[in-house]
Amino acid sequence: MTVGTDRRTAQSDASRALQHLWHDDEMDKVSTESCRTVAAIRAVDTEDASIEFEEPLAAWLAGADWVARIRHVKEASAQYRTGLISHVSIRCMAIDAAILNACKGGAGVRQVVLLGAGMDTRPYRLKLPEVAWFEVDVPAMSRIKQRLIEQAPEHLRPETTPRTRRLERVPLDLATSLDELRAQLIRRGFDPDAPVLYVMEGLVYYLSAEENRQLLEKLPAAPGSQVLVTCIPAALKKMVNDPSVQAQVPHFKVVAPSWKTDLDEFRAIIAHRWTITEEINVFDYAEHCGKKLARENTFIADQRDVTESLIHAAID
Ligand SMILES: C[S@@+](CC[C@H](N)C(=O)[O-])C[C@H]1O[C@@H](n2cnc3c(N)ncnc32)[C@H](O)[C@@H]1O
Repeated sequence: MTVGTDRRTAQSDASRALQHLWHDDEMDKVSTESCRTVAAIRAVDTEDASIEFEEPLAAWLAGADWVARIRHVKEASAQYRTGLISHVSIRCMAIDAAILNACKGGAGVRQVVLLGAGMDTRPYRLKLPEVAWFEVDVPAMSRIKQRLIEQAPEHLRPETTPRTRRLERVPLDLATSLDELRAQLIRRGFDPDAPVLYVMEGLVYYLSAEENRQLLEKLPAAPGSQVLVTCIPAALKKMVNDPSVQAQVPHFKVVAPSWKTDLDEFRAIIAHRWTITEEINVFDYAEHCGKKLARENTFIADQRDVTESLIHAAID
């Protein structure tokens, strides 16, 4: 057998193992679909050399079937490899920049907790050697991610070394076991007396208003702590619930019931304990970076109105 054949065989064996991993009975379908979809979107943008965006592990973590599906969607709308970037990748870039900024210098934050981590790869991508990184997700998702990282094919192995001081996975359902979060973090080396940066990318709209209220209220946060959170505008929530839109995009029927909290509701909730220091619409961020966003649906009149925003908030 040649070396090339060996490698292809190893990769297809690995891919089969990956498919098996995703069939976890404890895994909620919406969680699985949402985290694989966004990873696949980032993987497809990584394939486009004209977009300055790279996430080497994204394709592996999303799985070949999901990447093919997203590639097909972008091809069908004649946007594949045309330099148009998805809002998911721009959102990721905006958060990368905000994290690096919050952690930089002598006064920078030294611990980051990513809530609803999914297939995020920041601790493997961002050079943060002084930062302790904690990833929280439901237990089945944490387990799958750990195994995917361990089983990464040979050519990706160098990408699986964390670039943070430490990386800890915290398997926990924030909706049912929030009261355990503090102890679980401390057990893994979290310092409750030091400032922390919480990152919630693509999470809070899946939680109810009450779940968000509890979360924002109970997060252990010493003075100087910060939150970075993305949330969908009310216009997007309304659009996915519109039966005439659902007739054109049947997938919206699946996501509509799981998107519970919009930006207006979330702003009111976060304000009880945190002070919003900055809010940026991801569409505006793309323009600011000189990038053109891919159009996700042809019938959207104003893309900005239905694009997520990134909120940066702090605690005194
Ligand atoms: C849209 S994905 C986003 C993943 C990742 N932040 C990213 O942007 O690539 C949402 C993630 O939130 C997680 N999640 C949803 N509800 C959760 C809960 N109650 N507790 C912990 N994680 C949750 C899901 O399992 C999923 O991984």
